[in-house]
Amino acid sequence: MKALIVYGSRSGATREIAGEIGRVLSEQGYAVTVEDARRSKGLDVNRFDLVVVGSSVFMTMWKRHATAFLKRNAKALAVKNVALFSSGTAGGDPALADYARESIAKVARKFPEIRPVALAYFGGYLDFNDRGRIDRFFGAVRQDFEKKGIDTGRPIDQRDWAAIRVWAIGLATKVRSTVQEMAQA
Ligand SMILES: Cc1cc2nc3c(=O)[nH]c(=O)nc-3n(C[C@H](O)[C@H](O)[C@H](O)COP(=O)(O)O)c2cc1C
Repeated sequence: MKALIVYGSRSGATREIAGEIGRVLSEQGYAVTVEDARRSKGLDVNRFDLVVVGSSVFMTMWKRHATAFLKRNAKALAVKNVALFSSGTAGGDPALADYARESIAKVARKFPEIRPVALAYFGGYLDFNDRGRIDRFFGAVRQDFEKKGIDTGRPIDQRDWAAIRVWAIGLATKVRSTVQEMAQA
């Protein structure tokens, strides 16, 4: 069983999520390739039993190269086991659970030929001291965190590694049984 994980990431937070999913899938017996969406052009998705595509979200949008990967490979992915995930602050706030679910479902709906076997919106990572990242979004979001009593003087890491691992294990199991069923048919 071969798995490909393609990620879009600005500062590395989503790259680490992709890496963790990759580690779980290899523990589950998959041969894993993890690739930055920016370097995904030459990849042949046909070689894989499972393709996981994820991106961090900025101003409600996926990173351009991650979306481009889906667009470029939509036809080939139509007959593959595909899982999609977003990562960002919306995924780390239980009050936004409905919004997060709808938001990742919307990414999937942009590519109707792809029918994902799993969707997720994981929490993200924010460092308000990262001067290069300060813009209007940061001001509004920072106030939001402060109102909830969260110290924004330090990096906020909302990534729930246990939830990420549980999702990846579920995915590994689901795809393994689908592939076995198809082999027996
Ligand atoms: C300018 C800006 C806009 C953002 N917009 C969103 C957003 O619309 N939804 C969301 O969930 N997270 C949003 N985030 C949070 C990022 O997605 C989060 O920090 C993510 O973990 C970054 O991952 P990366 O380093 O892999 O790119 C935003 C962050 C910044 C700096």
